[in-house]
Amino acid sequence: MRLVTDWNRYHKRARISQRFLWVIWKAYWDLLRGIRFKEPIKIIELGCGTAYNTLQMTKLFQVDKVTLVDFNPNVLDAAQKRLSCLNCEKEFLLRDLFNLDLGEKYDIVHSQGLLEHYPLEQKRKLIRLHRDLLTADGITIILVPTPSLAYRLWRGTLERLHLWIYPDETAISEEEFSAELKYSGLQILKMKKCHLIELGAVCRRGVSTN
Ligand SMILES: C[S@@+](CC[C@H](N)C(=O)[O-])C[C@H]1O[C@@H](n2cnc3c(N)ncnc32)[C@H](O)[C@@H]1O
Repeated sequence: MRLVTDWNRYHKRARISQRFLWVIWKAYWDLLRGIRFKEPIKIIELGCGTAYNTLQMTKLFQVDKVTLVDFNPNVLDAAQKRLSCLNCEKEFLLRDLFNLDLGEKYDIVHSQGLLEHYPLEQKRKLIRLHRDLLTADGITIILVPTPSLAYRLWRGTLERLHLWIYPDETAISEEEFSAELKYSGLQILKMKKCHLIELGAVCRRGVSTN
């Protein structure tokens, strides 16, 4: 049987490790460097968790609307509180991403810490979801852990201390990540290793085969 991550447990930890959120945001910031939009944009975050990265993006771009999706009610509730300071339109969807049927398109579709929790076919469905939610000129940003030496040391240490809480997580190599993004009809604009353990990609819609 596939053991799945307990997102309530994750969420309790994320609440206290604010410094880690900042490190991830710095990776996003680096990926977003040079990206501009002419009009106010719509942003959707898939598996939003803390929604911290969406909040930070609203400081970089003029934003019309943010949509946050997560299937964990505690997580979504905290995201709602975190974004209460925003003046743009806000939508919080308590939904499973595998049953998300939205009519709307977005200028930025993003996720971090999501794909690596699913087996290949579901991973592909999630990548296609990022792609299908994009406007014609929109970009998607996806960050995943990669099996670097630092990742393996960090994970190995936490596993030995019985502090590893992601039993379903599989780190994704750069080769696999780029192959899967292209397979799902995304064109990679930028791919970067971030803060030693993650890999981030900025993509737009390419020629779709799947
Ligand atoms: C590692 S956390 C994301 C962290 C987030 N990037 C942040 O900055 O806090 C992954 C999130 O995805 C959500 N999630 C995982 N699978 C999901 C699914 N099938 N549908 C909706 N949400 C999902 C979890 O509840 C969790 O909040």
